[in-house]
Amino acid sequence: MEHTSVLLNETIDLLNVKPDGIYVDGTLGRGGHAKLLISKLTTGHLYAFDKDEQALRESEVNLSEVADKVTLIHNDFRSAQEELCKRGIDHVDGFMMDLGVSSPQFDDPQRGFSYRYDARLDMRMDQSQTLDAYQIVNRYPAAELTRILREYGEERYASLIARAIVKNRAERPIETTFELVDIIKGALPEKELRKKGHPAKKTFQAIRIEVNDELGALKQGLEQALGMLNESGRCAVITFHSLEDRIVKNTFKDYSSAPFVEPKLPLVASQMEQASFRLITRKPVVASEGELTENNRSHSAKLRVIERIARGENHG
Ligand SMILES: C[S@@+](CC[C@H](N)C(=O)[O-])C[C@H]1O[C@@H](n2cnc3c(N)ncnc32)[C@H](O)[C@@H]1O
Repeated sequence: MEHTSVLLNETIDLLNVKPDGIYVDGTLGRGGHAKLLISKLTTGHLYAFDKDEQALRESEVNLSEVADKVTLIHNDFRSAQEELCKRGIDHVDGFMMDLGVSSPQFDDPQRGFSYRYDARLDMRMDQSQTLDAYQIVNRYPAAELTRILREYGEERYASLIARAIVKNRAERPIETTFELVDIIKGALPEKELRKKGHPAKKTFQAIRIEVNDELGALKQGLEQALGMLNESGRCAVITFHSLEDRIVKNTFKDYSSAPFVEPKLPLVASQMEQASFRLITRKPVVASEGELTENNRSHSAKLRVIERIARGENHG
């Protein structure tokens, strides 16, 4: 199964790769971005994370010709600092993340990510993890399900769907994606079912985000990435929905703003602490017309990039 990398050239161009630099790809997938990044390295090295073991196995083959320039790590990018520290690395020249699920994960009926295939409720990116979609759907209390569907799926009918899930699972466990789709369809008002787009899309997105703690990982991963950047090092992040983009936008804004100073303090400009980062993209980079026609996944993609300008007190 193929995965077409999104915003490939834009991301690697904006990372400003130094041939002798140390880089991190937090979301290796099938290694599309990694391969292009490595092609810019001479003596440099890439540390590549994925929490999906299958992705690492496939990438090991895809990157076999450049194996000396890359280290593959099976872990969440939220543990980047600890994993790199074990390998003697405490600063890096660039860190990229291309968030979400890859096409091979989404299109593999066995993984239970998609409402288009009937499969056991799973949705784990890391198959060694115990929490899966089955447990969320069958064990979470109604209030918790409602919160997740509302916050992570932005689903207007969150409580209707949550109540229908609880009612159905009282009779027997909800085992499969298609059973869940039927319950969602049964809970939604008729007018919702006539709208464009799949009626289960928001619920599936919400459960997937909860299974993989995607927003928690992103917040922690960004802190780690920005904390490790060398001066003139950059962090590039591609997001696929507004919840992720909001986290990246706000974190980058916070890091690139000068620390607040009480206006009454008698400081001259040279005494004021400057921000340690600057935004490289004030507005997110989106896919070109050409990419939009070729790759459906690129429609919701947004790329944001930030650069460290100084290693000071502020944010490390
Ligand atoms: C969109 S794909 C990346 C595709 C890749 N850039 C390419 O060009 O082939 C996202 C990948 O990141 C992984 N992933 C998502 N969140 C992760 C996290 N917090 N830590 C490690 N891997 C993660 C997923 O398992 C998936 O393989």
